[in-house]
Amino acid sequence: MSDTEFPNDFLWGGAIAANQSEGAHLAGGKGLTTVDMIPYGANRMPIKLGQVPHVELDPDEFYPSHNAIDFYHRYKEDIALLAEMGFKVFRLSIAWSRIFPKGDELEPNQQGLDFYRSVFEECKKYGIEPLVTLCHFDVPMHLVNEYGSWRNRKMITFFSRYARTCFEHYKGLVKNWLTFNEINILLASPFSGAGLLFQEGENHDQVKYQAAHHELVASALATQIAHEVDENNQVGCMLAGGNFYPYSCKPEDVFTAMEKDRENLFFIDVQARGYYPSYAQKVFADKGVELVTEPQDFEILKHTVDFISFSYYASRCASAGMNEGNTSAANVVKSIKNPHLPASDWGWVIDPLGLRITMNTLYDRYQKPLFLVENGLGAKDTPDENGHINDQYRIDYLREHIIAMHQAMEDGVPLMGYTPWGCIDLVAASTGEMSKRYGFVYVDRDDKGKGSLARTPKQSFYWYKKVIASNGKDLS
Ligand code: BG6
Repeated sequence: MSDTEFPNDFLWGGAIAANQSEGAHLAGGKGLTTVDMIPYGANRMPIKLGQVPHVELDPDEFYPSHNAIDFYHRYKEDIALLAEMGFKVFRLSIAWSRIFPKGDELEPNQQGLDFYRSVFEECKKYGIEPLVTLCHFDVPMHLVNEYGSWRNRKMITFFSRYARTCFEHYKGLVKNWLTFNEINILLASPFSGAGLLFQEGENHDQVKYQAAHHELVASALATQIAHEVDENNQVGCMLAGGNFYPYSCKPEDVFTAMEKDRENLFFIDVQARGYYPSYAQKVFADKGVELVTEPQDFEILKHTVDFISFSYYASRCASAGMNEGNTSAANVVKSIKNPHLPASDWGWVIDPLGLRITMNTLYDRYQKPLFLVENGLGAKDTPDENGHINDQYRIDYLREHIIAMHQAMEDGVPLMGYTPWGCIDLVAASTGEMSKRYGFVYVDRDDKGKGSLARTPKQSFYWYKKVIASNGKDLS
């Protein structure tokens, strides 16, 4: 037993997203969405990062999202496994294009609404609270092709209609909502993050920050609507977290690290405080960005979130001399390799203390409760001859991070809950691999989509079950 004591109402659980788990990409009237256009293999990154001007499906490519882990048909079995671990909360996302297949319709698709109703009811059957992300890396493709996605102001109307539909339809079933997953990833990965494609010669920063403005207004409007529809609704923003460390104590490195942090925190500054931070003007001027806004935008932005949710996999590192040659993009945010830290097989550094530092930074800055909605170790798992998976490395990673998050709570940071990422193995967002696994539950499927899709609890499944049953005391 450790001396970790968590509040009685602490929400233990796990997280997945529609685009990486559901599959059934055209079932029940669903429309194509951005992630459906991102193949596995060499052409993945150029599309994902918005480096090609136009995307179309190619019959010679393999698209991992089209079948994923077939959560769409297997959610009852999956939720039963989560319940067996004792989950109190389950973070998942709604695929926008199941509810509005094209995105600009006036009426929602009943089949899509019914699907999520039955998923949420299944959760409730076991006393599991859904925590629902409205937009997790998926924009209906019709909105991309017809309107240019978030570069277009009309998206605010489409998104708020979608958000209102969800709030009204699931009133009483869902009360915890997130608007945009990892909203800051739009800067690094504009197509997968926000459906953005670019024309030759365009100022990418102009397009990205204009899109960011539309998302921020849409997020604030959704927050306002959520509160109007049900005063019990709690709405969070969502940051791809992880502080930048200065590579050295040279003031130039420290300053660069501060600027790199601001690139990410900019979004949360707006969502948590209700107005643009003062440094934004200088950033926009330096990048040649001229935002097109309307006066009411600044009133809408005043509708701030109730809590700050974030993902944390790794800390980051910056120096004044960082460039293409000395950085890598663990989780697509460019960072210098920190020589003091070990890394996963995918080069993501492992830094539990970085979680404590990040949590303290976020709470110092915003003074709103935090929710750690993604964390985990992407690793290759190999079943033994009996099919058993001993993922001790994952248990070690999670234990150290739970201890760090508890230490942050002792520092005075309020944390609502913890939903480690990919609690059931799913498709990796960055690489499209299945072999980069995070789950407590193994899914038999390989990188090319072969496998029975059978679910098998790993060693970590039984460990996490014990962690939850002891409310975090027993981490052994
Ligand atoms: C976060 C995303 O960036 O990291 C998830 O919100 C993603 O969608 C997760 O899956 C882990 O990244 P990856 O690339 O290992 O799947």
